[in-house]
Amino acid sequence: MAKHIIEFIKHPINTATVAPDSTELTRIVIEMADLAKAKTVVELGPGSGGFTEQIIKSIPPQTKFFSLEINRKFVKHTKKRCPAATVYHDDALNLKEYMKKHKIQHCDSIISGLPLTVLSEDLQEQILKLVKESLSPGGRFVTYTYVHRKKSKGNARLKRLFHDHFDRLEVSRIVWKNLPPAYVYCAIKE
Ligand SMILES: C[S@@+](CC[C@H](N)C(=O)[O-])C[C@H]1O[C@@H](n2cnc3c(N)ncnc32)[C@H](O)[C@@H]1O
Repeated sequence: MAKHIIEFIKHPINTATVAPDSTELTRIVIEMADLAKAKTVVELGPGSGGFTEQIIKSIPPQTKFFSLEINRKFVKHTKKRCPAATVYHDDALNLKEYMKKHKIQHCDSIISGLPLTVLSEDLQEQILKLVKESLSPGGRFVTYTYVHRKKSKGNARLKRLFHDHFDRLEVSRIVWKNLPPAYVYCAIKE
């Protein structure tokens, strides 16, 4: 928690919250990502590694998995918390470079902690286009947003972009126990 607060003070936009995400939110993210049969899984913006820890526990042993995190401190923290995870210090926009490195053509699930609703329209579009291109047919992109961002322009744009780029969008119930309360989007490429 202390690390998250410090990083939030230093990088408020990228870090987005003062607290790591709750166990309940993590459980819903992992369920919606449907990891049991996934052969390739990627995580964007793992932060302090709460999702990473559960991804590692949920994927089959032969599944290829790596994370991309832009904040060096969070990379260090997640590596320490999840020694079995491969965590790169890089921008999510360089995803394809790392897929190539791991000989991955398509990902079955992409899980994201990126603060998508606060990004510019251009960046939101670049990320969703990149994610869509990187997913296999039937692939899932799972991310979440906070209740206080629900009526924001950024969230309205994000939902429009999901509808433009993906075939189906599932939305979870609100996790009131999360700090701040949050809910999950799962965009599916058919
Ligand atoms: C809301 S936090 C993730 C919280 C995480 N689920 C947890 O429980 O700690 C967002 C994370 O995305 C990272 N991030 C933001 N922009 C990024 C980018 N372009 N590429 C990679 N990581 C990014 C931030 O550094 C931060 O760690």
